[in-house]
Amino acid sequence: MPYSTFSDAQVLSLIKAIDSDGYAVLPGWASPSQLKDLQALVSRTVAEAGNDYVALSGRQAVAGSHLHDWGGSREFVDLCRRIVAGVTGEPSADTGMTQTLRCLTGNGGRRESLIFHYDSFVLTTILPLCMPESGERGDLLMIPSRRPIRGSYARNLLDKVLVDNKWAQRYLKNKFSNESDAFTRISMQPGHMYLFWGYRSLHTNLPVAEDALRATAVFHYHNVHGSSSLASRLRKSLGTLEEQEMGEDVPQT
Ligand SMILES: [Fe+2]
Repeated sequence: MPYSTFSDAQVLSLIKAIDSDGYAVLPGWASPSQLKDLQALVSRTVAEAGNDYVALSGRQAVAGSHLHDWGGSREFVDLCRRIVAGVTGEPSADTGMTQTLRCLTGNGGRRESLIFHYDSFVLTTILPLCMPESGERGDLLMIPSRRPIRGSYARNLLDKVLVDNKWAQRYLKNKFSNESDAFTRISMQPGHMYLFWGYRSLHTNLPVAEDALRATAVFHYHNVHGSSSLASRLRKSLGTLEEQEMGEDVPQT
C-alpha cells in the first residue's frame, strides 16, 4: 500500500472519477513482491478447495497476509471514510472494512459469475490478485450509479428483490449481449485497486474459463442500513438469504 496519506484534493478527484467514469483506480497498490506473496496465498487456498470456487470471508481468514494488514489499516479505513463522507455528507461510524478473498475457477467459478447485484455498502474496492491473461478475462461489469442511496432498508430490499430473480438476470444478460455499450466494462490489472459505488451501481463479473483463475480481494466500506432494526430482524429470521443480502459475506464481484 504505497499511499499513506491523501490530500483533500486527491480524495475529491477520486470521488469525481467514480462519479464520471463509474470507478477510480489506485495504481500499484500492491508492490510486485506483495503481489507475489498474495498469489501464493491464492494458489494454496484454491488447491485446498480442490481447484474450485472458494471465498475466504473476514480478516481472520487471511491472518498473516497483506490482506489482513490492509483490512485493518487505519490509513485505508480513513481514505474510505473520507471518500464516503464526500458523498453522503457525514462521516461513517464504521471503523473497519468488510473483506473477502474471492477465487473464481472451475465449474463453481462459472456459477458464481454474471450475477448482477447491488452491494449493501456505499464503497466497494477491489484488488485483483490473479487475472486470466487471455480468453475470458472475468472483467468487472457495471451500470454505474443506477440507484440512489435509499432512505430505508425496506426500499433497499425491494431494489435487491427486483434484481435477484431469474427474469431480471436474464434481461440483464441479454441487454449485455445486445447493447454492451450500456455497461461500463473494466479489465482489471493485478496489483491496482479499483473503487466504485457498490451500493448504487448494478454490477457483476464476467466468467472465466474453468481452467483459468480470477482472484480478487474485495473490501467494502460503510454498510448503509447496518443499523436498521428491520435488517437485523430479517437477518435473524431469514438466515442464509439475508446474510447474503446484508453481510456481503460472499460478494458476487
Ligand atoms: Fe458486489
